[in-house]
Amino acid sequence: MTARVALVTGGTGGIGTAICKRLHGAGYRVATNYRDEGRAREWQEHMRAAGCDVTLARGDVASAEQSEAMVRQVERDLGPVDILINNAGITRDTTFHRMRADQWREVIDTNLNSVFNVTRPVIEGMRERQWGRIVQISSINGQKGQYGQANYAAAKAGMHGFTISLAQENARFGITVNTVSPGYIGTDMVMAVPEAVREKIVAQIPTGRLGTPDEIAYAVAFFLPDEAAWITGANLSANGGQYMGW
Ligand code: CAA
Ligand code: NAP
Repeated sequence: MTARVALVTGGTGGIGTAICKRLHGAGYRVATNYRDEGRAREWQEHMRAAGCDVTLARGDVASAEQSEAMVRQVERDLGPVDILINNAGITRDTTFHRMRADQWREVIDTNLNSVFNVTRPVIEGMRERQWGRIVQISSINGQKGQYGQANYAAAKAGMHGFTISLAQENARFGITVNTVSPGYIGTDMVMAVPEAVREKIVAQIPTGRLGTPDEIAYAVAFFLPDEAAWITGANLSANGGQYMGW
């Protein structure tokens, strides 16, 4: 059988890069999107030098038109998408009483509407082929809320609502839909939090440290093999013990 095709959105970022590497290492053919071609080609070269071949397709996941064009490009280059990892995301942290409409909208468009934009063009093909894997990268802060993140927490909680509905609709078609909810991982997104605030957050993590992108990639890969066919609608927390709610 030819290797399955995995599309990882936001694959050039901290967690995305680790997911691309792990999925490539597991034998999947991997693609990701980009917005800035120069930066993406540089990243691709860097990955190639490390033995990891990732196909690039232009696309802003906040745009339905661009997301559909991106999926069609991946289909032309690699074949139908069997595995979709909805990973692209941003923060626009501020307390709600100061939040502007554009800060609300950008986060909802990039972190939640993106899930519609990218999943919609792949779902019919997965149903026809009777096999698919869809994983949302949500967040601990979608589970517990976070001071300064009303926009982000709303989007991330919404991602899991999407997961558990899509899981029900598509279980009979060999498609599983799951969520991974990472805690604080040492990427640019977390390093943008003021150091004093970050130190207080790390002090609340039982493992006493930030997580690594590889630790999230490991959790994502768990959902993908045929052996994981019975696991659908799950929300897998990978947060160093910071939040242990069900
Ligand atoms: N609980 C209670 N009070 C808090 C608080 C908290 N968690 N965080 C801040 N406060 C209080 C502060 O103690 C301060 O009180 P005083 O005025 O009495 O001193 C007040 O709120 C204002 O705090 P700041 O000085 O930090 O206010 P600010 O306006 O400069 O910044 C903020 C506010 C942008 C929310 C900033 O606190 C911040 O960046 N917080 C971190 C938010 C966060 O965790 N973001 C995660 C980004 S990474 C990510 O999103 C990945 C992921 O999924 C995990
Ligand atoms: P990151 O390093 O900032 O990477 C974000 C990636 O998303 C980048 O590749 C970025 O591409 C892409 N992206 C952003 N907006 C996009 C858009 N509109 N269209 C297409 N791509 C877009 O962040 P990260 O830490 O790896 O986070 C990855 C995911 O994990 C996010 O969904 C985040 O919310 C989630 N998460 C992170 C943590 C953490 O602690 N880091 C914890 C929980 C959940 P550009 O280079 O083009 O901007």
